[in-house]
Amino acid sequence: MRPPQNLGPAIETTELAKRYGNQTALAGLTMSVPRGEVFGFLGPNGAGKTTAIKLLVGLIRPSAGQGTLLGEPLGDRETRRRIGYLPELFRYQEWLTAREVLVLHSELAGIPSVMRARESDSALDTVGLVRRADDRVGTYSKGMQQRLGLAVALLGQPELVFLDEPTSALDPVGRHDVREVIRSLKQRGTTVFLNSHLLTEVEQVCDRVAVIDRGRVIAIGALDEVVGSASGVRVRVNGLTTVAEEQLRTHGGFTVEQDWYTFQAVSDEEVPALVANLVRLGGQVHAVERQTGSLESRFLELMEATGHS
Ligand SMILES: Nc1ncnc2c1ncn2[C@@H]1O[C@H](COP(=O)(O)OP(=O)(O)O)[C@@H](O)[C@H]1O
Ligand SMILES: [Mg+2]
Repeated sequence: MRPPQNLGPAIETTELAKRYGNQTALAGLTMSVPRGEVFGFLGPNGAGKTTAIKLLVGLIRPSAGQGTLLGEPLGDRETRRRIGYLPELFRYQEWLTAREVLVLHSELAGIPSVMRARESDSALDTVGLVRRADDRVGTYSKGMQQRLGLAVALLGQPELVFLDEPTSALDPVGRHDVREVIRSLKQRGTTVFLNSHLLTEVEQVCDRVAVIDRGRVIAIGALDEVVGSASGVRVRVNGLTTVAEEQLRTHGGFTVEQDWYTFQAVSDEEVPALVANLVRLGGQVHAVERQTGSLESRFLELMEATGHS
């Protein structure tokens, strides 16, 4: 195998778009996901996340634009063997055991028969289902079914795994388990593309995120860039008159609670100017605190900024 530094991105797309009739499901996705990264694809229901995954794995064809997966054009059949996919909705035959489901899917995935048992065992181990491997799927809880779905996606040790809302149907324990699986994949160097409308999920495991709304990317970057740009600043200041407060509007929106002024959109670079202005306006500054924004608040801001209601 070639050393990782010689490999191009795991995923690359240019203006990838999908329309159904006059309905735009994805408006033009341009992004690059380096190998080994856990990439979060984040947005509300109906934003176009599932459409993006289906385009990437080659289940549907784009209306416009193009992309590559592991260096090969989208839809390439050989590349499919190198990727794993956990669909948003799936159901396995209730009368089969987990092991049988995995052996069946190994066969469907074209894994040679001598390797199917070992591949299935390895996937069962990764998702923590070894003990229940010979029980019927019909007796499984939702969380166990989801782990089985993950195991199917991991058959053949794919280089790149697509997970479409892997935790939305799960309780906190199930969510924790799925996050652990994602972390172990990352440790092995597997690239993970994670769709989610659950911000806290993405926040906990992703290196970078794209936020999409109504088919468009509205923010993309390292998690702390996307989150960090939301950070506000809290200043404890007294002595400001109402007139002075009016003039503070040049720093954007703020709220006041006793002596604490919270400015919602002041970047790191703008803090000194803000403090200087407060002093100039007659304020006595006692404390300045950065507010570390959560992805949740940033997400809501982005939605508001683009007129999402
Ligand atoms: N097969 C389809 N036919 C028509 N419209 C579709 C189809 N699939 C998705 N859409 C529409 O495209 C938009 C994006 O859907 P989807 O990708 O499923 O969003 P998400 O996964 O983010 O919830 C939605 O408005 C949805 O109704
Ligand atoms: Mg979806």
